[in-house]
Order: sequence, then C-alpha cells, then structure tokens
Amino acid sequence: MKYLSTIIISCIILLISLGFQNIKPVAKGDPALDARVDSLLSLMTLEEKVGQMNQYNGFWEVTGPAPKDGDAARKYEHLRKGLVGSMLNVTGSENVRAVQRIAVEETRLGIPLVIGYDVIHGFKTLSPIPLAEAASWDLAAIRKSAEVAAKESSAAGVNWTFAPMVDISRDARWGRVMEGAGEDTYLGSKIAYERVKGFQGEDLSQPHTILATAKHFAGYGFSESGRDYNTVDVGTSTLYNDIFPPFQAALEADVKTFMNSFNILNGIPATGNSFLQRDILKGKWAFEGLMVSDWGSIREMIPHGFARDGKHAAELAVNAGSDMDMESALYVEHLVSLVKEGKVKESDIDDAVKRILKLKFELGLFEDPYKYCNSDREKEITGSKEIRDAVLDMAQKSIVLLKNEGGLLPLKKSGANIALIGQLAADKDSPLGSWRALVEANSAVSVLEGLISSGQNKIQYERGPLVFDGTQNFAFEVKVNEEDRTGFQEAIQAAKQAEVVVMVLGENGFQSGEGRSRTDLGLPGLQQELLEEVYKVNPNIVLVLMNGRPLVIDWAAEHIPSIVEAWHLGSESGNAIAKVLYGDYNPSGKLPMTFPRNVGQIPIYYNHKNTGRPDYPGQDLVFWSHYMDSPNTPLYPFGYGLSYTSFEYSDLKLSASQMNKGGNMELSVVLKNTGAVKGKETVQLYVHDLVASTSRPIKELKGFQQIELAPGESKEVKFIIDEKSLGFYTPEGNWIVESGEFKLFLGGDSASEMNVDLVID
Ligand code: NOJ
Repeated sequence: MKYLSTIIISCIILLISLGFQNIKPVAKGDPALDARVDSLLSLMTLEEKVGQMNQYNGFWEVTGPAPKDGDAARKYEHLRKGLVGSMLNVTGSENVRAVQRIAVEETRLGIPLVIGYDVIHGFKTLSPIPLAEAASWDLAAIRKSAEVAAKESSAAGVNWTFAPMVDISRDARWGRVMEGAGEDTYLGSKIAYERVKGFQGEDLSQPHTILATAKHFAGYGFSESGRDYNTVDVGTSTLYNDIFPPFQAALEADVKTFMNSFNILNGIPATGNSFLQRDILKGKWAFEGLMVSDWGSIREMIPHGFARDGKHAAELAVNAGSDMDMESALYVEHLVSLVKEGKVKESDIDDAVKRILKLKFELGLFEDPYKYCNSDREKEITGSKEIRDAVLDMAQKSIVLLKNEGGLLPLKKSGANIALIGQLAADKDSPLGSWRALVEANSAVSVLEGLISSGQNKIQYERGPLVFDGTQNFAFEVKVNEEDRTGFQEAIQAAKQAEVVVMVLGENGFQSGEGRSRTDLGLPGLQQELLEEVYKVNPNIVLVLMNGRPLVIDWAAEHIPSIVEAWHLGSESGNAIAKVLYGDYNPSGKLPMTFPRNVGQIPIYYNHKNTGRPDYPGQDLVFWSHYMDSPNTPLYPFGYGLSYTSFEYSDLKLSASQMNKGGNMELSVVLKNTGAVKGKETVQLYVHDLVASTSRPIKELKGFQQIELAPGESKEVKFIIDEKSLGFYTPEGNWIVESGEFKLFLGGDSASEMNVDLVID
C-alpha cells in the first residue's frame, strides 16, 4: 500500500515537472496562464492550498543546520511539507537558494516560494527616503530610483517588495510620513504610478524586476493624533477623493499586490474589511492580484476587539478577501478546519491560491526557481555605478531651498573659512534614514565629507553638544541629550572666526519611520539652543535640515538667512548636499507636505475646505475659524521651494472662459527666468470648484510641469483642462463633473493667487 502511494505521488510529480519544464514564463492575459494555474490547483490538497496562503518571516540561519526546537522548528517543518507559499526577510542569493531548494526539491509539488522584502528606498545602496524623493516632483528620477532598487534587491534573491507606500497623510507627527509621497493625492498618485513601474518594469519575468505592493489599504495615514496604528475614522468623501486615488494609480500601473493595514477604518479592521478588499478592490476595481496582510495584522484583529480568537480572526480575514497571512500563522493553523466546518468556502481559498500561483508563473519561478540566486550577478550589481549615479541624482533633486536671504548661498568653492557645526554634519548613519533595508550602518557620505571633496575651503568642523547617543543602528529608542552642553563653546568659537557657518541639524535616522510618532516636532535635544547661541555670534548661517518629516522651525525661518531642507538623503547624502551648497546643482525641490508653524496646527494641509467662517486676516473678529495664538497659515506651504534663480509668471490665459462638460481647453502662462543662473521651476496647476454638491477644497493640485530655463529665457507653459481636472467623487464613490464656476490657479506653490475663472455648462 505504502509502495503504491509512493508510485502515485512520483507520477504526479513527474507529470507536474513535465508540465513545467521548457515552459516560458507566462504573462498576464495569456490564456495559458489560467490553464496552468488551474491544472496545478487541481493537483493540490486543501492543506497545500492553504500553505500557499502562508507567509513566514525568515526564521533560522538559512544556510546553517535546520532548527530543532520551538517555533522555528515548526515553521521549518511547514516549509518542508509545502505549507509555506512565501517568505520575507530572507536575502542574499545563497540564502534564498537554500530556502527555495527546500520548497522546490523537498515538498510534494515543488512549488517555488516568492521572496518578499521591504525595499523602500533602496536595498544596499540607498536613495533618499520616499518623502524626500517626492519633493523632487521628478517622475522620471523617481521611477529610476525604484528601478535600481529592484535591480539591486533582485540580485540578492528578492522578487517582491512591500513598496510603494501610497498612504496620504496630513500629519507630520506620524513617523511613517517619511515612507510616503506626502499630503497630496494628485502628486501621490503620479508617484505611486512611477514607483510601481520602476519596480515591476514592463516584463516581470526579467530577473531584475520585482513585484510591487501598494500599501496600506486603507486609511493608515489618517491615524488619529498621528499615533501609529491608531484608529482611523474618515468619511467616504475623504476616502474616495483623498485616500483611494493613489491606490487606483498603482493599479493603473498594474501593481501586482496590495497590502492591507493595521488600522481600523470606520470601526472595521482593514484586514477584515470586506468593503475595502472585496467590494472596492477586487469588485469595483477588478484587481486580479494578491492581497497580503500586514505583519501579524490578522492576529491583531483580536486586540482590536473584532475577532474572538485566532480561528475567528482567520475566518474574518479570508472571508473579507485577505489572500495571504504575513506572520500570524493563523491561516495555516485554522483554514482547513474552517473550510470543513463550512465557515469558509473552498472556492474563496481557490481564488486566493490562484492569485498567488499566477504571480509565481508571471515571475517565471516555475521555469527557473533560482533565477534570482546568481551570486556573480549579485556581486556585479550591488553598489554598481549605475545605482550610485541614480541615487545621487535623486538626492540632489530632492533637496528643497526654503530660504536664501541676502544670497548667502551658493557658497564660493574656495578661499572661504567655513565653520561646520552639528553632530549630524559628520553623521554617516542618520542620512540613511529609516526603512534602510540592508545598507551597511554608517555608510552614507556625510556633509563633512561632501564639502571637503567638492571644494577647497577651510572647513572647521565642531560637533557641538552630542545630540544623539552613539550609533543608533535600528535603535528602538533614540536617546537624545537634553543636558550635557559639552562642545557648545568650541562650536561658538568656530562660528566667531568663520565667514559662514553651516549648521546641520535635525532628526536622527530612526526618529521617523514605523512606530516613531512624535508630539514635539522642534529640533531635538539642545540643537535649537545651539542654533540660537551660534546666531548671536555669527548670523551668517546656512541651516541644513536633516529629517524624515516636516519639522517646526518657526524661529529659524524668522532669523536664519538660508535654510536648506535636505531630509534623509541616503547613501550619497553629503555629495548631494555639497552640490547644492556650492551651486553645482541649483535646487529645484518643492515641499510635498506643508510645514506647520506649530504642532497645534496639525493636521494642516493646503487642500482644506473653506468652512462657513473662513480666515479673514487682519480683521479683529473672534467668531471665525482660527486660533487665538497662531495664524491659520503654514510656515511653508505645500509645493513651496526656492531656486538660486528667480521666476516670473505672466500672461495667464484660458483658450475660452466657458467649456461644455466632456470638452477640453488650454490654460497657458508665460514663465521667465529672471535671475542670473539656469534653473528649473515646477509650474503647478490648482483648481477650485466654487459651488458643488459636496463642498470642495479651496485648491486642489491637478497638474504640474518641470521647466528648465536659462537666464533671461522664457517659455509658454500649457496645460490641458478637461473633466479629469474638474470632477470629483461623490460620497457614494461616483465620479461626477458638475456645471458651475471654477477658479484655475497657476504658480510655483499652493499659495499662488494668480488665477482665471472658468464656467462649465
Ligand atoms: C509592517 C509594516 O507596516 C509593513 O509596511 C511592512 O511591509 C511589514 N511590516 C513587513 O516588514
């Protein structure tokens, strides 16, 4: 009997391998894809199907001996029994080969694993944090940055990134704003599209392209009070108009996977939310790819007070449309019995498994499960020139010039006596930022190194007081010094003797990111005090900010002549900053998030509604929507950023002042470079629908173009205005364009008041 079953299984395996051999990877839409998926599915037991829906974190030293005890041993056993469909956090071509070998050679059906990793802004070579990249508004550079990240990570065995994060957020207290594209839906959608294209390329079966993930579906960026994982309550108008569009843009780019989110949305955890996953994503939007849970988010439905226990959580999640369980281990434990008890339909399991298998076919893993496991390729690609060049290009484009009074910048390249002050100026770790994948600690080019290698000035570096304690690689708690002023006097002395002071201040690389919400957004520790003390002896200060979110820098904005927002710029940070400070690159970034004057203004965002009692600045009234102790206006608005040159806008024209629904017209403006150097301006188009069936924001970004002009040069910049610029989603989720009056604004930021009127019939 035993002999007979062995023969049967061997025959099945033979049949499958015959089916898999010599096949080309199959693409979406190819009828052969469904046929192959169906035929494989028909050979699978219910246990094996459920196994495909199970994703484990890397759980042992993969190339070492197999684990013998505890949780790791159980997971290892699951892997060998074909009860694991995917693993995350296993990296390196040899490690991935080792786990893949078990899946392919030791399990009954030999189905390869898909290998996930958080490739958020690079892998071993880092690009700027995503928020910084968004500040470039440069879609081609952003796509390239994702493309090189895919190249470097795929060479190390990864074939699935959990990026891009496309959550819109208006709350700088939320540490994960560093990981997104900022506060605006239009810009966020454009960037979501490019990032997906960059990661996935045009052909997923190529070894240098990887699956992308649109995350976190949905509403995660609207957590109450900016505290991570917190409750989200938003109306459907916000959901359809502000939160969903970047996910739809990712879908347009053919994103293959979605990840749900930790938060509850209007009372229902996203992971167990069938409105989100079944009705909207897989229903209305006809998404054919895979929905993976967030890390343990299925189990988290228990403390959310939504699931009684693990089994109930598995039932709720799968019925709501979550296809793969990341690290809760609840699917593998309970789904078989849930199907047998009739609480989960086997057809829903089949649907989830088909989605997973399809992706494995599209990646070409059945053709060659080791295609991402070539150690020669890994060596050749890791840190290659192409990647370094792309991240440097991205870094310089991400820098935003916030202030430059008196033309302190750019600095001359030689003959100057510069005092460089601040711990972050020599920090080679913080510029790597959060979500740093496998980059080596302390490997970024520091500002000190960048300035020394790009100019011939006399640079005296003084750290000032220690702000952050030691190297904080993946520190869960960043220790900030509030008391020890050692180093203050040396910094002040250096400033006294210098022509120009460059101060690099801001956040440690781990003060933003997941779980890193903050209530105080000022400069941490003694940095503000240091800034003010140095200012007393030498006000010629260039403040370079390094941070993962908008900070409150109201004092600096008032006193410091030059302010450069340099974020956490990744591996080439110091070189990019030096290029901007020396004028080798004329800054062109524009803020993707509003900078508040104080934390009390948060959430603050440009596309707010007017209220019934809008701002009447200058009027001595009490009963209007305002604060008694702060203006409503931000410190720096969304879309804001200066250049070493200046631009003039004139001749704003609309091809007609009236348009029929369904029609289109042209809006044009003349842009002139009125300064002395070549520069790039991002011309921004905003729309205001004055009266509508749902109150519309006072301005909404609907287009932008980047224009580079030589000194004295001018150019007519044209935008097409059509229904896409004028419509919105009703609270029921229907797209409409309504007749009536609109105002169209053009300018270099969201505060521009240059506008024309348009009437829609
Ligand atoms: C939790 C995060 O929310 C998610 O974005 C990430 O992809 C997973 N952990 C895996 O690391």
